[in-house]
Amino acid sequence: MTTDQSTATATTASTTASTTSSTTAPTAAPTTASRPIAERHLFGPGPCNPYPEATLALAAPLLGHLDPVFLAVMDETCDLLRYVWGTANRRTLPLSATGSAGMETAFVNTVRPGDVVVVAVNGLFGERMVDVAGRHGAEVVRVDHEWGSPVDAERVLDAHPSPAIIAAVHAETSTGVRSDIAALGAGKGDALLLVDAVTSIGGIELRADDWGIDVGYAGTQKCLGVAPGLAPFTISERAFARRVEKPSSWYLDLGLLGGYVGEAEGKGQRTYHHTAPTAMVASLHAGLRRIADEGLEHVWARHAEAGRLLQEGLQELGLTLFAQEGARLPELTTVNVPEGVDSAAVRRYLLERHDVEIGAGAGEFASTVWRIGLMGHNARRDRVALVLAALEDALAHA
Ligand SMILES: Cc1ncc(COP(=O)(O)O)c(C=O)c1O
Repeated sequence: MTTDQSTATATTASTTASTTSSTTAPTAAPTTASRPIAERHLFGPGPCNPYPEATLALAAPLLGHLDPVFLAVMDETCDLLRYVWGTANRRTLPLSATGSAGMETAFVNTVRPGDVVVVAVNGLFGERMVDVAGRHGAEVVRVDHEWGSPVDAERVLDAHPSPAIIAAVHAETSTGVRSDIAALGAGKGDALLLVDAVTSIGGIELRADDWGIDVGYAGTQKCLGVAPGLAPFTISERAFARRVEKPSSWYLDLGLLGGYVGEAEGKGQRTYHHTAPTAMVASLHAGLRRIADEGLEHVWARHAEAGRLLQEGLQELGLTLFAQEGARLPELTTVNVPEGVDSAAVRRYLLERHDVEIGAGAGEFASTVWRIGLMGHNARRDRVALVLAALEDALAHA
């Protein structure tokens, strides 16, 4: 703030502020930076550019959260979520918060103090699960893996003879790695299988019921091609029957949330819990409708092709990939930053020159790895060509 500005603010404040108050409320409108509206190509680890249908839905006239038209949209959204999760679970709903709240919901509703929770850790989000489970009183048995490698199901299943919960990340966004959830489901025994599908849902094969997933959470901003803000969630009858009756979180209590989407008493029977974010739900509905119209398996194939072309193209540029071969996600590619190249400078150049956003690496790989996402609407051949051309140009200027 310049001296002139501070004088002006003080003078205005002194004429309007209450004499009984020692704090000074701002009386002039705060100044904000003006920003050019450029369309960014969001090729990082999420959010991605949404499906156009999802963006358009945000501009539709807003509905009240108890409007019958909105309730029908919510019902259809839950049906469409069952489709992308591959589940018949009655309790499948969009939580009104981001993916991390999905993680919190999963643990707060299932963990009792002292419960043994085996967590497969092969990246940042497995690490976060350890933290969250521990906060809810779990006795966490962590099974560590080298970052860049998939979860070793055998080691995880052998880690404890009778855990209450086995938890793993399907698509580890920090490393670009896919793990075999079906193998964990096949060997889980009496344990509940709790899965993070934030970066897998709508992008790669996910079959919650066939794979034995009991509790799953996801996010809207990745392969579902919708803005961030909701956490698609599903819980099996088996897991719901074992839930904590009165979890320490009111907002994330699944017992109360069942009524919110009408799944406790059947469709159409709603109890007020919180105000549904109607615009976001309408946007998710439109994104899911788009996926259903295209066909989920076709959408998976589109992601697979875009990822394969990107990974081939990067290697043709002379770059090497970080994630273990055979476990690479198509929707999120991790690339080693070449020796001597300033990783942050390249990302800045891409953003300023090409309006292309790519991600830095995570954790100890922050400056040695880039993360390139082709998710949802961005999982297309023309986007592959765009990001490769931009990166080639950036490397030539590095
Ligand atoms: C695998 C995974 N889990 C959880 C999260 C947390 O989701 P959010 O950032 O939407 O809270 C993310 C976010 O990137 C993620 O990639």
